[in-house]
Amino acid sequence: MEKAEAVTMEKIVSLSRRRGFVFPSSEIYGGLGSAYDYGHYGVLAKNNVKARWLEAMIQERDDIVALDSAIILNPRIWEASGHVEGFSDPLVDCRTCKLRFRADQLGESACGRKPSKKPGETPECDLTEPRQFHLMFETKVGAVEDSGSKAYLRPETAQGIFVNFKNVLQLARRKPPFGIAQIGKSFRNEITPGNFLFRTREFEQMEMEYFVPPAEAEKWYRYWIDERFGWYTRYGLRESHLRVRPHEADELSHYSSATSDIEYLFPIGWSELEGIADRGDFDLSRHTEFSGTKLEYVDGVTGERYVPHVIEPAGGVDRALLAFLVDAYDEEVVGERERTVLRLHPRIAPVKAAVLPLIGKSEEMVAKAQALYEELRLRHSVEYDDSGAIGRRYRRQDEIGTPWAFTIDEQTLEDDTVTVRDRDSLAQERLPIGGVRAWLDDALERDWKTPKAD
Ligand code: GAP
Repeated sequence: MEKAEAVTMEKIVSLSRRRGFVFPSSEIYGGLGSAYDYGHYGVLAKNNVKARWLEAMIQERDDIVALDSAIILNPRIWEASGHVEGFSDPLVDCRTCKLRFRADQLGESACGRKPSKKPGETPECDLTEPRQFHLMFETKVGAVEDSGSKAYLRPETAQGIFVNFKNVLQLARRKPPFGIAQIGKSFRNEITPGNFLFRTREFEQMEMEYFVPPAEAEKWYRYWIDERFGWYTRYGLRESHLRVRPHEADELSHYSSATSDIEYLFPIGWSELEGIADRGDFDLSRHTEFSGTKLEYVDGVTGERYVPHVIEPAGGVDRALLAFLVDAYDEEVVGERERTVLRLHPRIAPVKAAVLPLIGKSEEMVAKAQALYEELRLRHSVEYDDSGAIGRRYRRQDEIGTPWAFTIDEQTLEDDTVTVRDRDSLAQERLPIGGVRAWLDDALERDWKTPKAD
């Protein structure tokens, strides 16, 4: 059996909790279903996911610019986008167990009384007729509560991009093909959230809208499927656990002529990690119609004018982090002791290196280790730890996915060399202490491939 199958969602939840990546939200008040708070390592790892996405979208290319739009937008935007009318899921209630299910996902849900059965499968199940349940969170803006103050928390970041199309076109002096990228929180009152970070009501999205001449839409659609697939493998996900699944015609959103999901083999089965959609000219045309502002491209030289088509890679930060954690999780026996290790890509790992004096009570070792730590922390996320047995300290770092540990030992006091221990191979080599900083800089630049079997 493949070792990777040691991973279960329960183990990821437990490690995340134990090591302070992710806590259930509002815990001292009894929690709030499917809401999570990120602890120190979770924040660092999530920031790394976002930074790698921004690098790939903005830093490494010239044709995409950044945006950070508001969460609460003019409510007309959601009329134009089709969300007010159509952003709902079919809901059924069970009068017996009082649970709610998505009518289109009964086959994947568990009956509230007999979890081994599907809702509707037992004679006691008493399901209502499906009715549409709206997924946008409503709120009020301003001091006066009337129908004019109704607003929504955005259910996707994409619309904030479309309504800024004209600003960016003018001020960033771009012509199609060009893109606008945004990371930010989105909110959906999901009927059946669950599976830890996979589906929550508050989550972060990484979305990029790529505006192209209509005739080039198909080409860029293919291009972005490949690019985004490559991004996940570049940061360590195994190709064997990734696939592209084109949507069937009856699955397509109202705005899309073609969509493909990049799916990951989570412990819950193959599930969407990111969607790449050809949105055609739907959004720009609708916002032109609803706002009265023409959203089109006019070529300054030829006078040619057209409404660009949009190719949209839309991923979730939390869901991507969950996939990185799941893919990285490993258990093995080393020297008759079991260890749990997160084999995270070094550029996703929350902590890049640990600095450890072999003997925490040795003043000389501690002094050298602290000096090295002070030097490294200026450039990277590193940790210093001198408490407890060295084996325990290594295992703690393994569990949070720290790729390297620099250990200061007896020999360091003689010749100013340290050992560097590799998280995955457990190989140790000696380095001059003065070269550690450059070594770590180089190591973080190197290509990395997971040692887990593909
Ligand atoms: N603008 C298009 C759009 O929002 P989507 O497929 O609904 O498309 C894009 O969402 C991505 O956002 C998903 O692939 C997923 O990674 C993430 N996402 C969507 N709903 C989510 C939820 N309830 N919890 C966590 N992530 C979610």
